[in-house]
Amino acid sequence: MEMRNRDLKEDIREYWTRRSATFDLAFGHRIPPGPELDAWAAAVRQAIGPAPQRVLELACGTGEVTNVLLSLGHEVTALDFSEAMLGVARAKHAGNARARFLLADAERTMELDQAYDAVICRHLVWTLTEPEQALADWFRVLKPGGTLLVFDGDWTKPTPIGRIASLAVRAIERFIGHDPYYDGAMSEKHADIMTRLPFSDGLTAERVEPLVAAAGFADIRFPSHRPIAAAQRRNADLRNRLRTRFYRRFVLTASRPRDIDGPDLNALPQAEGRSS
Ligand SMILES: C[S@@+](CC[C@H](N)C(=O)[O-])C[C@H]1O[C@@H](n2cnc3c(N)ncnc32)[C@H](O)[C@@H]1O
Repeated sequence: MEMRNRDLKEDIREYWTRRSATFDLAFGHRIPPGPELDAWAAAVRQAIGPAPQRVLELACGTGEVTNVLLSLGHEVTALDFSEAMLGVARAKHAGNARARFLLADAERTMELDQAYDAVICRHLVWTLTEPEQALADWFRVLKPGGTLLVFDGDWTKPTPIGRIASLAVRAIERFIGHDPYYDGAMSEKHADIMTRLPFSDGLTAERVEPLVAAAGFADIRFPSHRPIAAAQRRNADLRNRLRTRFYRRFVLTASRPRDIDGPDLNALPQAEGRSS
């Protein structure tokens, strides 16, 4: 069982590594300046509050969400387990002193306890191999009062409207040809990985909420994803506008409760030898 799990993770890493050079060309991943960047920034600001904060970004890919966080003025540690993806992100943000990049597994970050004000990921949770372990780790690295922010969706099946939109895209592509960069669930490798994941039957807000609660998080909310989808449609062509309708996407925020019965770390006596 463990062996199969390890193989799965290797397959996931290989899949993303293969896509790293062209990932930004696939609609929905790059966040262009203008309405779309503004919409993502607004969602982040609303969830975690004003900068500067210490933010851990999980599975940063090519560094697009990293850009949102940096544009808001946060200090960002961005990690990914694909060296190639991380390479693209590093190059994009070279010279930015507020960005630190780490080659690491998002399910076992190895970061210090209570080191971050916020933990953020986009399009990672659906592909976790051990979601409970991952959530426990994210809880651990958050400061009490810190925020978890997840952007994700159910990529296994289109919504009823999405099915119609997908037929329309197929019809359009008969005239203008297939988009080689779009990642729909059609590619064989992607489909094979999907069937082996814990969320193989789809990641939904309803499905993830009890897992987040079981990890200790409180104040779990689902702000609307609509402003982001609307912004994505503003400058998109017809095919991409239709694509924003394919899948059910969601935003989740939750917080690590302040440990009211536990020690207030700031109130503890200073360590010996340090001036007060
Ligand atoms: C769909 S891409 C999303 C990238 C980025 N978050 C974004 O929204 O643009 C998924 C990313 O997750 C990374 N990834 C998947 N599982 C991971 C894990 N366990 N640890 C670290 N990175 C992981 C992949 O390498 C890939 O870069």
